[in-house]
Amino acid sequence: MAEPGHVLVVGGTGMLAAAADALAEEGWRVSHIARHASSFAQGRTGQAGFDADYHDAEAFRRALEAALAWGGPPGRGIAWFRTLKLETPRLMAQALGAPGRPARLFQVLGSRTAHPDHPDRLPRAAATAEGLPNCILRQVVLGFRVDPGGVRANTNEEISSGVLEAIAADRPLSVVGQVDPWPLER
Ligand SMILES: NC(=O)c1ccc[n+]([C@@H]2O[C@H](COP(=O)([O-])OP(=O)(O)OC[C@H]3O[C@@H](n4cnc5c(N)ncnc54)[C@H](OP(=O)(O)O)[C@@H]3O)[C@@H](O)[C@H]2O)c1
Repeated sequence: MAEPGHVLVVGGTGMLAAAADALAEEGWRVSHIARHASSFAQGRTGQAGFDADYHDAEAFRRALEAALAWGGPPGRGIAWFRTLKLETPRLMAQALGAPGRPARLFQVLGSRTAHPDHPDRLPRAAATAEGLPNCILRQVVLGFRVDPGGVRANTNEEISSGVLEAIAADRPLSVVGQVDPWPLER
């Protein structure tokens, strides 16, 4: 188990909020980058928020600098970007760890990334961390739940606890819920 240090989170003001709170309880310094990060972190012990839109690379860069100044080099990152077709997921990966002290990046991905007809998607997502010696990638796919009533998405609570389980398991790929067998029409 990693010693608590600084964990940098994107998406922590939303469905990963319970995961961020749990990590702060464990003693991690939790920094958030999101559009509403500072208001989210207000009053949460051990957490700090730096406001930026991840579509705005310059604003995101400034938020990263401020987060690192606050928490030191992040030993862990948790990233939920709705799309990876942006500059900012790579900027985040580059900001993690320190020479000789690589960090884990838990990359949270939508279920489509693991669609059985598109085996290229997970490796494409992994390119975010490619060639970065300070960043060890762990992918976490948000799958589905199959209930007696039908197929549904994970709840925020299921996503947060699934991400915490993925962190504890530390496997290259974890799935929250299921993608195999693929439960929807193909
Ligand atoms: N099964 C699946 O594949 C799958 C995948 C994704 C989502 N879902 C479901 O969809 C629900 C909602 O998804 P959601 O993405 O709306 O999740 P969310 O986590 O509720 O909200 C999005 C998160 O990303 C941040 N964010 C969004 N746009 C941003 C931007 N432009 N710049 C910086 N940060 C940004 C938000 O913070 P700010 O608003 O503070 O910026 C927030 O923390 C989830 O509860 C889940 O059930 C399912």
